[in-house]
Amino acid sequence: MRGSSPRTRASEQLYDPRFVAGLFNEMSETYGTVNYLSSFGFTERWRRACVNGGKLSPGMRVYDLMTGMGECWGFIADALEGQGELVAVDISPVMCRRARERQSAFGGLPIEVIEGDVLENSLPDGSADSVLSAFGLKTFSEAQRRSLAFEIARMLRPGGTFSLLEVSVPRGPIMRVPYMAYLKYAIPLLGRAFLGNPENYRLLGVYTHRFGDCGTMAGYLREAGLQVSDVSHFFGCASSLRGVKPS
Ligand SMILES: C[S@@+](CC[C@H](N)C(=O)[O-])C[C@H]1O[C@@H](n2cnc3c(N)ncnc32)[C@H](O)[C@@H]1O
Repeated sequence: MRGSSPRTRASEQLYDPRFVAGLFNEMSETYGTVNYLSSFGFTERWRRACVNGGKLSPGMRVYDLMTGMGECWGFIADALEGQGELVAVDISPVMCRRARERQSAFGGLPIEVIEGDVLENSLPDGSADSVLSAFGLKTFSEAQRRSLAFEIARMLRPGGTFSLLEVSVPRGPIMRVPYMAYLKYAIPLLGRAFLGNPENYRLLGVYTHRFGDCGTMAGYLREAGLQVSDVSHFFGCASSLRGVKPS
C-alpha cells in the first residue's frame, strides 16, 4: 500500500481476516497440543470457567464464536446436558474441517459449523440465548473488536448471556515480564518441537502483547448496551468478560 509505513502495513496485514484464516489453517495441526502443554493445562480450566460464565441450561441455543476445533464443545455439551443447539463459527477452513470431524462426539447435541468471518455473519437478530468465545479476541483490531461487541449484542435475545475469554498481559510487572517472555520466546520453541511453524507461535505473542487485556472490549460491550462484569485469571495471565443483554 503506497504511502503507509512498514509498521502500518504490518499492522494492516496482522488483522486482515485472510491473513488470520491462513495463520490458523497452518497452526491447526499443532494448536491443540501446543496450547495445552504450553499453558500447563490452564487453558482447559479457563475454557471451563468461560462456559460456566454463560450460565447455560438445557434447551439453550448457544453460539461459540471463533470456535477453532471445538475446544469448548465438551464443556458446552455437558452444561446443555445434550439438549439445545450449538452454532459454531470460525473463519479458518481447516479449523472448521477438523471441528466437523469431531462433531458426533458430543452426545448427539446438534452442532452447526459455519465457516466464515464472524463480522460478516448472517445469524438472525436476537437468535442466541448465549454467546461464548474462548481465545478468539486477540486477532481482531480495536475497530474489529468494537464491531464484534455490537454483533454479540445484536445476536443475543433480551435476557441472553455472553462470556468471552482471552489470554492477557498481566498488569503487575512481577508476572508480566516472565509471562510475556514465555509467550514470545518459549512457546515458539515448543511449537517448533511439535513440528509447527515457530513464526506462527511468535505471532500469537505479538497479538497478545497488542491486545493487552479484555478492558477495552468491556467498554465496547457496554457501549453496545450489554451489562458486563470482568474476571481476571491467574494474576492476569487471562481475562474474561461475562454478562447479559438487558430485557
Ligand atoms: C486461538 S483460536 C481459539 C480456538 C478455540 N475457541 C479455543 O478455545 O482454543 C482462534 C480462532 O478464531 C478464529 N478466528 C479468527 N478471526 C476470526 C473471524 N474474524 N471470524 C471467525 N473466526 C475467526 C481462528 O480461525 C481460530 O480458529
